[in-house]
Amino acid sequence: MTYTTAQIEERFAFAVDLAREAGAVAMGYFADLDSLDVTSKGPQDVVSQADVQTEMLIRSRLAERFPNDAFFGEETGPQGIDGAEGIWVVDPIDGTQPFLMGMATWCISIAFVAGGATRVGVVFSPPANELFAAREGHGATLNGRAIHVRDATSLSDGVVTLGYSTRTPVEEILLVMERLLRGGGMFARNGSGALGLCYVACGRFIGYVEPHINSWDCLAALLLITEAGGRTNDFLAGDALHTGNAVVAGPPALYPALAALMP
Ligand code: IPD
Ligand code: CA
Repeated sequence: MTYTTAQIEERFAFAVDLAREAGAVAMGYFADLDSLDVTSKGPQDVVSQADVQTEMLIRSRLAERFPNDAFFGEETGPQGIDGAEGIWVVDPIDGTQPFLMGMATWCISIAFVAGGATRVGVVFSPPANELFAAREGHGATLNGRAIHVRDATSLSDGVVTLGYSTRTPVEEILLVMERLLRGGGMFARNGSGALGLCYVACGRFIGYVEPHINSWDCLAALLLITEAGGRTNDFLAGDALHTGNAVVAGPPALYPALAALMP
């Protein structure tokens, strides 16, 4: 990786401020949901101008401040990625469905990837005013206070959050659920992969499992989990930045049991 520690630090500080600024823009739309035009991107997959405008703000701020960094956002796609050393991977609103239905479980997710690994991860939940932040090798925080995964060793020690989208067959998630419930566990799904993962990082959930998730949904939060003492699968293996991957994440002692839930 050719980025210096100071350059990563600078990007971390900028991402923290930017997540809050983007959160304020998204909150403006959240306060007036009836005025939004909602478009379908596929089954159970919607988008509104809140997602697009929030991403445009994040993209333009990053281009202004770090013109040589590439950008990859859920709504506007890749920009300058070929041969780029550093890539910002952004979901402007993760949890679009809960957002549009007036529920609080949505967030802004900003990751910075360089040299094949995530160096910075920031996830901001505006309705809760919770900012989750991590810089590689420097721990994870929630509103500035250090966070840690729960010290769980068994599936019955808490709740595992599951993710699911129509990108994978129904049978797969049914198998995950059956194994989890028969193993003495319990499931939750809050509609935002990024936030579900951050709740694992701070010990609210004991694990996260999803057969397929996109990089913009999870990269920032996966760094939060490892920096909070947790373990995740090697999400970025292969071409996952572009095509997504399965995700398994949780406390190290519980990780084998979580991985065994996967189809
Ligand atoms: C989705 C959410 C959901 C996860 C899906 C994602 P969106 O993103 O993160 O929790 O299960 O894989 O596609 O549509 O809310 O941006
Ligand atoms: Ca998303």
